[in-house]
Amino acid sequence: MLRHRLRIFNVGVDGRVRLVLEGALTARDRVGVQDFVLLENFNSEAAFIENLRRRFTENLIYTYMGSVLVSVNPYKDLEIYSPQHMERYRGVSYYEISPHIYALSDNTYRAMKTSRRDQCILISGESGAGKTEASKKILLYYAVSCPAHQRMASLRDCLLQSTPVLEAFGNAKTLRNDNSSRFGKYMDIQFDFRGVPVGAHILNYLLEKSRVVHQNHGERNYHVFYQLLEGGTEEQLLHLHLDRNPQKYLYLVKGNCPRVSSMNDKNGWKALVKALSVIGFTEGEVQELLDVIGSVLHLGNTQFGEEEDGQTYVTTEMELKTLTQLLGVDGAALTEALTHKKLTANGEEMISPLTFEQAGAARDALAQAVYGRTFTWLVEKINQSLALDGSSVIGLLDIYGFEVFQHNSFEQFCINYCSEKLQQLFIELTLRSEQEEYETEGVAWEPVQYFDNKVICDLIEEKHKGIISILDEECVRPGEACDLSFLEKLEDTLGGHAHFVTHKLANGKTRRVLGREEFRLLHYAGEVNYTVTGFLDKNNDTLYRSLKEVMCQSTNHIVEHCFRRGELVDQKRPEMAATQFKNSLTKLMETLMSKEPSYVRCIKPNDAKQPGRFDEVLVRHQVKYLGLMENLRVRRAGFAYRRHFEAFLQRYKPLCPETWPVWQGELAEGVSTLVQYLGYKPEEYKMGRYLVLSEYPVPEEIGVIVIQAAWRGMKARRRARRRRDAADLIRRLIKGFIHRHEEYGPDNDYFLDHVRCSFLKTLRRNLPRSVLDKSWPTPPPALTQASEELRQLNMRNMVRKFCLAILPEWRKQMDQKVVASELFRGQKDSYPPSVAALFLGTRLGDEHINLKVVQTLGSEKVQYGVSVIKYDRRGFKPRPRQLLLTGSAIILVEKTKIKQRIDYDALRGISVSRLSDGILVLHVLCEDNKQKADLVLLCDHVIEVVTKVAMMANKVDQVNVSQGSIRFSAARSKEGVVDFTRGPELKVAKGKHGHLLVIIVNDSSKSCIDLNECVHLFPFRPPGRCDSKE
Ligand SMILES: Nc1ncnc2c1ncn2[C@@H]1O[C@H](COP(=O)(O)OP(=O)(O)O)[C@@H](O)[C@H]1O
Ligand SMILES: [Mg+2]
Repeated sequence: MLRHRLRIFNVGVDGRVRLVLEGALTARDRVGVQDFVLLENFNSEAAFIENLRRRFTENLIYTYMGSVLVSVNPYKDLEIYSPQHMERYRGVSYYEISPHIYALSDNTYRAMKTSRRDQCILISGESGAGKTEASKKILLYYAVSCPAHQRMASLRDCLLQSTPVLEAFGNAKTLRNDNSSRFGKYMDIQFDFRGVPVGAHILNYLLEKSRVVHQNHGERNYHVFYQLLEGGTEEQLLHLHLDRNPQKYLYLVKGNCPRVSSMNDKNGWKALVKALSVIGFTEGEVQELLDVIGSVLHLGNTQFGEEEDGQTYVTTEMELKTLTQLLGVDGAALTEALTHKKLTANGEEMISPLTFEQAGAARDALAQAVYGRTFTWLVEKINQSLALDGSSVIGLLDIYGFEVFQHNSFEQFCINYCSEKLQQLFIELTLRSEQEEYETEGVAWEPVQYFDNKVICDLIEEKHKGIISILDEECVRPGEACDLSFLEKLEDTLGGHAHFVTHKLANGKTRRVLGREEFRLLHYAGEVNYTVTGFLDKNNDTLYRSLKEVMCQSTNHIVEHCFRRGELVDQKRPEMAATQFKNSLTKLMETLMSKEPSYVRCIKPNDAKQPGRFDEVLVRHQVKYLGLMENLRVRRAGFAYRRHFEAFLQRYKPLCPETWPVWQGELAEGVSTLVQYLGYKPEEYKMGRYLVLSEYPVPEEIGVIVIQAAWRGMKARRRARRRRDAADLIRRLIKGFIHRHEEYGPDNDYFLDHVRCSFLKTLRRNLPRSVLDKSWPTPPPALTQASEELRQLNMRNMVRKFCLAILPEWRKQMDQKVVASELFRGQKDSYPPSVAALFLGTRLGDEHINLKVVQTLGSEKVQYGVSVIKYDRRGFKPRPRQLLLTGSAIILVEKTKIKQRIDYDALRGISVSRLSDGILVLHVLCEDNKQKADLVLLCDHVIEVVTKVAMMANKVDQVNVSQGSIRFSAARSKEGVVDFTRGPELKVAKGKHGHLLVIIVNDSSKSCIDLNECVHLFPFRPPGRCDSKE
């Protein structure tokens, strides 16, 4: 699909243009051709102008010529500059939608973003052709449609509001244009890496100062004066001692048209006041600014008289008083300075009176100086409000256009010189360099002839021989230099130059239309006659030292700022006005050359400033001198698209599988592969040594650019975001650390959470692995309680697992041991040594129990058997017996005979001593006749036996560990007693009072065994992972 998009338009046989991608265009937009490159008859000037005219009558004022935008001033509001229009042009291909200044703005912006190269937009055309309007539209587009931050909103406002301020102070009505810019303006708009406008800087060029004191017929002074008188409040005017009627001010009536119907000074004033406040002028500053404007008007009304002795004096005392008030200077000093000049001769200061004419000139010079310097101060002030450096720049040049009046003076000379320079730049960048490149590239090429105005530029600016040099020389020459002597010097030096004529040098026909004090320059845009009157003064641009001294003392801060004391001390002669201008233009050209240019060529359709009128002669003239036809021929014959191999390949390689992602071979070969893949025919492209030249531009918007830009943008954004997040994180951690001992809250939540989380993670890795492992990481203070709970939980869990892992037989063993422990632990001396020994399932194997006994028991199974000694109730004779436990009874067996059976129900209790003996007494219910009496037994495994009996009979709570003797019921309701005592050797025998005496050997075995040790006694099945060490 991308390949299809490469062919954007076709020219049909009927000369009509068919756009492949014309979906966005309405039928109306398709009047004529949108791009002059598509004109079939591209050599015909008539066809060119006809195309302009046809579109103009349909209100289609914009037409492309390749990447140049041609604009015709409509002199009416077209309603094509709304935010919706801006939206429509954003990010859209040049050719997809009808030509517009927004398209050019957007393209330039995108070029800046993608190529990271500084851009500039050069707007040219004669006075009134629409340059300033175009520059305002571009500025508006950037201010409104570029991405912006909240805090950039104020920058946007300042940017937009700088225009009304500069226009009020720097624009005036001329014969050519009701809102003519009388200064040059170059503005750098700065963008950051994301394309957000972050700042701007304005450079101003040579304000036409003479307008402050004089205007040609039909023209006005600067707008601000009229706006103040029309819009200022009563109080303001009262304070300034001003009258609303502009007719009363001599500086405002020279052109005899203080009021113009097309201009609304009141609105202008409102806009100015608002703009000043938005930009950040304080009330004090605004007041001082008004004082300066008022003072200029009063200065204009300051008149002089001449005494009989030739002395000059000020006749308008009242004006002077107001003037001194407004300027904040000393009245006497100002009067003196207006009528006298100071001279320094041989180091001595001399005061010499001024003639009547000189005093008038000094006054005018002061008015111009005050106004001119205040204008520069204004620009500085605006710059302060816009200052911020970005990473890329779009420069916007709106500078004076070529202009011709009845009388043309030094100002027109400078303005037209500037026009010549811009034309030079245009030629250099579009006509000359391109053609030269084809030549050096060895591309077959038929050169297009064009008029190179370099010869005129040289005529004006060449060192020693140029007009400016001659003018400067004449200004500093000792002796009687005057404007006419300057003219003579010009004639001497430049006589014979093809572009220079004077009355003296001209032939008859020209001589008739040239005054004796005039010289004519044949500019690229037409002939202009300049009157030399005032050239020297204006170039000298001097203000008497005494006036400067007075101004330096001013209490008005603006005036004080504008007239620096240093200026008085500086002995070096400042550069002359024309040379200063020349130097600033040279610098400007360098600035523009360093950037990638786009062009807007403005055309004025008629001289009457009227909508709908298309004056063909006028337009033809402009088309001619702007070199548009030549430009078109180079465009047509040449190749719309030129790039170095490397740049081309780099940019478009993703469009071809063979060149993506990396082309390994020769650059030229890669380019050739790519171009062929894109479907270009051999005649459509040429390859020189370094360039690929294709007849149709590969639209920048196609995938690759978008992808590349988006990808780079995304990467950069992601990187920036990551860095910002990391910095935030570190900051939060540090803050949290500082506040770590405080309550949990926004200051430390992140830090505390982090500490908790990392404790839990550490804990997870270092959990104790067995019930015996007592290690546990130290918790942070905030987690002490939770940590303890977790520790217990973990222990319970391990214990549970441990228990589950024990085998059934060992569980039984454990159960019994637990019961034994409950019964005997700390109670009976023989318990501790018994802990280590396992309880056996039985201590009499089947072979030891007599078969008869088994048969007698029948279905009753013997579950436990042990050998015991039974002591008779009478005489305590010891008798060996077997004690058997079945499911329901205790059976006492003598070899083959069952001697006694005690059902568990009949078992009343079991008694043992607290010592280490093996005596146990089974207490039996006596009412049962079958039962003889309680049984006194001796057994080696008393702990085991008692535990088993108690458990099987379910009589655990009936086991008694007796602290002293054990009483038992003997036969026939008699009571027997077993006494216990310690002695040298073990003995069980009849003692005193018919008691059974048990003598126990002192035993030093442990009194207590640690449960932990017991644990080792019990083998268990490995329960998962918490076993490995065990
Ligand atoms: N695009 C436009 N739409 C409407 N009116 C325009 C346009 N361009 C110029 N004009 C009119 O022409 C006048 C002169 O334009 P301006 O830009 O001041 O000329 P320049 O700066 O070239 O001398 C403006 O005041 C305005 O009335
Ligand atoms: Mg202008």
